[in-house]
Parts: sequence; structure tokens; C-alpha cells
Amino acid sequence: MKSHIQSLLEQAINTLKQQAIIPADFEARIQVDRTKDKTHGDFATNLAMMLTKVARKNPRELAQLIIDSLPQDSQVSKVEIAGPGFINFFIDESALANQLMAALKDEHLGVVLPTPQTVVVDYSSPNLAKEMHVGHLRSTIIGDSVVRALEFQGHKVIRQNHVGDWGTQFGMLLAYMEELRAKNGEQAQMELSDLESFYRAAKVRFDESEEFATRARKLVVELQSGDAYCNKLWQEFNDISLSHCHDVYARLGVSLTRADVRGESAYNDDLAQVVLDLDTQGLLAESNGAKVVFQEEFKTKEGEPLPVIIQKADGGYLYATSDMAAMRYRSNVLNADRALYFVDLRQGLHFQQVFNLARKAKFVKPEMSLEHMGFGTMNGEDGRPFKTRSGGVVKLVDLLSEAETRALELVRSKNPDMDQQELEQIAKVVGISSVKYADLSKNRASDYIFSFEQMLSFEGNTAPYLLYAYTRVAGIFKRAADIDLSDASIKLEHDKEKELGSKLAQFGEVLNRMVAKGQPHALCGYLFELAGAFSSFYEACPVLAADSEAEKKSRLLLSQLTAKTLKQGLDLLGIETLERM
Ligand code: ARG
Repeated sequence: MKSHIQSLLEQAINTLKQQAIIPADFEARIQVDRTKDKTHGDFATNLAMMLTKVARKNPRELAQLIIDSLPQDSQVSKVEIAGPGFINFFIDESALANQLMAALKDEHLGVVLPTPQTVVVDYSSPNLAKEMHVGHLRSTIIGDSVVRALEFQGHKVIRQNHVGDWGTQFGMLLAYMEELRAKNGEQAQMELSDLESFYRAAKVRFDESEEFATRARKLVVELQSGDAYCNKLWQEFNDISLSHCHDVYARLGVSLTRADVRGESAYNDDLAQVVLDLDTQGLLAESNGAKVVFQEEFKTKEGEPLPVIIQKADGGYLYATSDMAAMRYRSNVLNADRALYFVDLRQGLHFQQVFNLARKAKFVKPEMSLEHMGFGTMNGEDGRPFKTRSGGVVKLVDLLSEAETRALELVRSKNPDMDQQELEQIAKVVGISSVKYADLSKNRASDYIFSFEQMLSFEGNTAPYLLYAYTRVAGIFKRAADIDLSDASIKLEHDKEKELGSKLAQFGEVLNRMVAKGQPHALCGYLFELAGAFSSFYEACPVLAADSEAEKKSRLLLSQLTAKTLKQGLDLLGIETLERM
């Protein structure tokens, strides 16, 4: 509806251009917003105020000219000028009802699909040397939800799990693996079931023994020059580490597969060329033996130049080097229109620098957009970065298990007679979705406090609240299973019906916002409001006990579209729904 009004306004502006009231070459940016207060109609635009300068007319006068030039439209019942020159649009209720009927019959719930793009989404991307920790939780679930919404809109999404599988720490790990194998034979395999302690033990050896450290350094060089034995060892290590990641993905219901893994090592063979190409373009400088790029745009607070390091003095490449190669691949091989990076905000400067450099060095097509979708830190209840009681990193698997255990208690307290198997099944869904939803519902750019109590509450914008709201809506149909709705239609008469109807019609706009800005919290907020609008409607408008057959069926259809929208919305967040809880 919003884009429909935008196009009506566009037509009006074209008419005014023909009449030379607005200069023909002027590009007007037409912004249309939903109104907060329905006495001001359903949509409003400040277009007349934006154009007063170029049209040399006062805003109210111009607003009237725009209104006079709007094409006739059956979906708009009234257009008014308000205040200094706003234009308010009132949507015709029967047009809205028809839109909802069409949404009910459409597998995309009436969402207007945009022109499809190819979108590369870089997310999760843990370092394989260690086990996944809470820091990777945010990237994994925010990224996955945006991926789902992009696919729903018909875009071609290419997932890229840019895992850290290369670099000096691998020498240390391989040296330790070798040492253990020599001592214990195949048993060394077992030790890798706990990557965290494996890494720590390797680090201890590295720090205590000069001989071990030398061996580790030699192994990295051999690995990077393609030595077969080293590569086999490295492959084995990564395989085990990746299978830990995929266990976590499976528990979280995240859509990443092994085929989506394209880690830093995948770019190893391109790195020398990256250096060469930067050099040919005269972009490289030398600093203490290292090859670096200084860019005008980046200076320290003191005004000192802030370089990107491309190659260390010992010949080793860096994180930024593989990102340069990855951008080139995403642009030229994958043909991306957009590349989205779901990575901690603390890497903001890194991305600004490499994005800027990739453009300067023409590694990416000029029309490709590079977007760092940064996120804040997940803190503990003390407001400090999330740690275990003893101060260690919290492993993701432990966190998920605790969520499930707490959810089990919660579900049992609500359903003391439910059998254990069903309880456990429900608890799994409630536990995992609570962790995911708590994260997704916050603006990704802010830090947030991780609290089991808050996320498992039935009150407020939480997973249990929404899952429960869904079971209530779905429950109405269980009682109405034998009612034939094939000839029924929606009529919006009661105020609460109109409010619910207008909320339902906003689904597509919300998805556009979520996908453009990489912000699942827009969808969470919407679903929360939708559940609220449904509950007010349900309180004020009896469904099964409605006054007439037609009214009952209309309200059932509204409930049905609410159920479908909630289910689809939760699915785009990667959250399963329950029929009972
Ligand atoms: N492995 C990195 C980390 O754990 C994240 C990689 C993000 N993606 C990228 N293209 N740099 O911090």
C-alpha cells in the first residue's frame, strides 16, 4: 500500500513537471510514512514541504496542487492537507479488506516482491582454532534470519561462512596434534572433542618449549606452501572443528551447510596476486618491512596515518588480505549486487578500510554494495562481557543446554500433567527460540544483557509470549474446523477489526525494512504488535459467538491471516511454532 501511494505521488509530480510548476529535471525523493494517529489517516507525506524551494510556492498551496494532480484511485477514500503542509491519505476499508483477502490466498501473503538481486551474506564465520562461543551466536542467528527474509522476497542468496581456518595458530595446533599422535596413536582424535582445552594445552606447550614453537612455525610455512602431510593434518583438524559448528547450527535450526563454508584458506592462492595488483596501481607503501596501504580517509585521533597491513615483513598475509581477495571473488565470480557482513561492530574500522580500498583498487564492480551489518556485545547481568562464573568463555552448547533445562521447568509448571516426552519436545522449542528471539528482538547495533529470566518470561516482547499468542490464534480453528469459509469474505467494521486489518497489511513493508537494513528487530517488533492487535480484537469482537454468520466468518478469516502471518514471521526469524504449550 505504501509503495502504491508512492507511485500515485510520483504520477502527480510528473503532471506538475509537465505544467512547469516543478523543474523537469528535479529528482524528488518521495517519502511516505504510516501515521501514528489514525485521525490523520493511514499514510502521510511531507513532500509538499520538501518541494517548496524548487517550486517557489508555500507548502499548503503546493500540497493542494499535488492533491489536485493525484490520479483517481479506488483504494484511497480521502486525501487531506494537515498542519503546515502534510498530505494525509485515508485508505478505503473495502480496498483494505480486499487486499487482506488476496493475501490469504497468496503463498507470499500478499507481499509485493522486489526485483530479485544476488546477495552474498557473510555470517557465523567462527575461527576454527577454537570452539564457537557466544560472540558467534549473534552473527549466526541475525545473519540467518536476514538470509531467510531475503529468500522469501525472491532474492538469490549465497551464504558464505568465512571461517578462520588459516594463520599462525594452526602451526601450534598441528604441532600439538603431531606430538599427541606420536605419544598416544589414534587416541589423539578423542582429545579434539574438547577444542577449548586442546587449544589451551597447545598454547602451554608453545609457550614452554622453544623447540615446540620452532616446529610450529615451520609447520605453518609448510602448510602454506602446500605440503601434503601438513595439509592432511590440517584437514583433519578442521573437519572436527567444523563438525562442532554444525552440531551447534543443527541445534539452533540455522540453515548453513558444509557447502556454504568458504574460509580464509580458500583465498590462499589469490593473495600474492592481491599484493601484485595493489602494487601495480601504486597503492602499496612500505612500513618496517611490511607492505601496507595508507588511505587519506583513515587517520588516528592524533592525525597519524592508519594503514591496512597487506603483507608482513616475514611474507605472511593477514586477515585484511584474504578479505580483499574475498571481495573480488564475491564481485567477479559470484556476481553479487550486495555483500552483507554480519560481524562484530568492533571490526568496524577494518571493514571501512578494506571496503574503501576494494573500491579504490577496483576489486569490486562500482555498483556492488558492501555493507557491514555490525552488532554489539552480548553482556552478562553485571553489564560486562558474558563470561562463566570462573571468568572463562561461555561455550554455546552449554548455553543452549541451560536454556532448554530452564524452559523444561517453565513448561512443566504450566502443564503439570503433560507427559515427559511432550514436555521435552516443547521445552526444546521454547528454550532455543527464547535465546534466539532475545537476540533478534534487540537493535543489533546495541549491546545487550543476556538474561534467562527475561527471555523466558511470558510477558513482553519475548519468544514465549509470541509462541503462546500463536497457539491461541491457532486454537480458534481447532474449534471451528467444520466451518466452511470458501464463500466468506473479510469486512472491517469494528475499530479493532480495522486496526488488526491495517497491521496485517504492513507485513511486506516491515520485511523491506528488515532486509534493507539487516534488522530482524523490525520484524520482531511488528509481530509483537500484531499479537497485541489480535488480542485487543479478540477481546472486543467475539469470533465464534459473533452476531451473524457473515461476521463470524469474516472474523475467522482475520484470525486465519493473523495465524499465517505470525507463523511466517516467526519462520523468517528461524523460530518454530507450537500447536500447544
Ligand atoms: N573469523 C572472524 C572472527 O571470528 C570473522 C570473519 C568475518 N568475515 C569476514 N569476511 N571478515 O572474528
